[in-house]
Amino acid sequence: PVIFVPRDAAAIAVGANRVAEAIAAELSARGIEAELVRNGSRGLHWLEPLVEVRFCDRRVAYGPVKPSDVPGLFEAGFLEGGAHPLLHGETEEMPFLKAQTRLTFARCGVTDPLSLDDYRLHGGLNGLETAVAMQPADIVQHVTDSGLRGRGGAGFPTGIKWKTVLNAPGVRKYIVCNADEGDSGTFADRMIMEGDPFVLIEGMAIAGIATGAAKGFIYTRSEYPHAIETMQAAIETARKTGILGPSVLGSAHAFDMEVRVGAGAYVCGEETSLLNSLEGKRGVVRAKPPLPALEGLFGCPTVVNNVLSLASVPVILDKGADFYRDFGTGRSRGTMPIQLAGNIRHGGLYETAFGITLGELVNDIGGGTLSGRPVKAVQVGGPLGAYFPPELFDTPFDYEAFAAQDGLIGHAGVVVFDDTADMLRQARFAMEFCAVESCGKCTPCRIGAVRGVEVVDRIADGDKPEEQIDLLKDLCNTMKLGSLCALGGFTPYPVMSALTHFPQDFTPKPNTLK
Ligand code: NAI
Ligand code: SF4
Repeated sequence: PVIFVPRDAAAIAVGANRVAEAIAAELSARGIEAELVRNGSRGLHWLEPLVEVRFCDRRVAYGPVKPSDVPGLFEAGFLEGGAHPLLHGETEEMPFLKAQTRLTFARCGVTDPLSLDDYRLHGGLNGLETAVAMQPADIVQHVTDSGLRGRGGAGFPTGIKWKTVLNAPGVRKYIVCNADEGDSGTFADRMIMEGDPFVLIEGMAIAGIATGAAKGFIYTRSEYPHAIETMQAAIETARKTGILGPSVLGSAHAFDMEVRVGAGAYVCGEETSLLNSLEGKRGVVRAKPPLPALEGLFGCPTVVNNVLSLASVPVILDKGADFYRDFGTGRSRGTMPIQLAGNIRHGGLYETAFGITLGELVNDIGGGTLSGRPVKAVQVGGPLGAYFPPELFDTPFDYEAFAAQDGLIGHAGVVVFDDTADMLRQARFAMEFCAVESCGKCTPCRIGAVRGVEVVDRIADGDKPEEQIDLLKDLCNTMKLGSLCALGGFTPYPVMSALTHFPQDFTPKPNTLK
């Protein structure tokens, strides 16, 4: 049998390493030979550490497992799928997993993240093998035809961005992977880097071949030590096996990459400040134009793509643009790895085709709140995303449908709040967050966010609240239209949605946050 214990940071945080040690000790005490694999997470976070056992072509799951459960699991014969209160049956048959369409996350949690053999066995490298035999412009066309849009948040068509870089004059070009996953309630980038690092390497190599770039950087956050370690180990293996290097898979294309670690500024997830940080400068936003696609890293044409965009490319090259495009709705094609978090019963990673409604995600899949109280609001798209009330739960997960409700999908983080949440406090938090994280380059954000906190405080204090609400709306409008980047420009989304959908919370009350 093969035993799987996740090495994912979320699983480690709830004791996966201690569970793995307990299993290894029990195996040795009982003199049993069994392989222990540290896999990525399946994304069922409420069941972590989720331990799986593979035997006779079956794979079953137990969880959440504590170290003290381990002797009992052995007594119950868990190496042959023995009955136990923690047994969930066949992993793939678990409802949360069975209903998903896993394209980007097809291997995450299934394979040994650092085994290249396992990667190949599960369809890995098929996309890159296809790409090395194609003309760069055809690869770009393929990605365009797939309908893939930027998964970092803005939803810009990936193929068009690549085309701009391909056609940009320049001897040196770069692929920069934005892995500075800073949105509240998001963890999909981290899960890919920890659970299937080769898919990101493969996606970046394909991007390099498609655009004529020979060098890539993954820019990630210092808060992700496990992801950094796993990515670096996978890059080392890829170099040794000819996936990276002067001749990618024996072709005439060269491509190499490295991991760079940021220092914890939210704004360094914004592409131009990320590029400044990569160049060793302070993480301050640059004005656009010029677009990074034309003048990016060190002034060279640069593709800046999110982890999920790049990790979706191999399956597109492998299975075809039409295959990918067939999933989804409207102009939102393919699948989206949605992250369910906050006050939710079944939090985790749920990859599905665009079009599923917010209500299905929160109530049917997520099981409602963990506290058992009614859902009051759901924030979608990180700290700069709008709050949706249950009345808007029929909104389909689709870039345009969310925009039509003055919201955004962003990086697909869904954070649930129950009826104890005070939306005035949440609005204040949005302004405070912007004030703390602002890079300081433009006035509407640098000054506006500080004034925003003060205005919300005056509403709570009962200091001419109606006038202050008008002022808050005016301020939001100025920030939205006048800010240089999305940090100042999108802070109005949470503030205005809180005000629009929950006006009853914007009344005088004791303000304990000042
Ligand atoms: P944007 O709309 O300015 O640009 C989107 C992308 O398309 C950029 O890479 C831009 O350079 C590129 N682009 C635009 N026109 C182009 C053209 N003609 N040719 C080639 N490339 C072109 O949006 P921005 O400011 O890059 O991102 C904002 C989004 O970031 C928000 O929607 C927000 O949801 C998201 N976000 C994500 C976070 C995360 O942790 N993943 C954190 C904070 C914000
Ligand atoms: Fe900097 Fe804020 Fe202006 Fe963005 S909006 S450039 S973070 S000051």
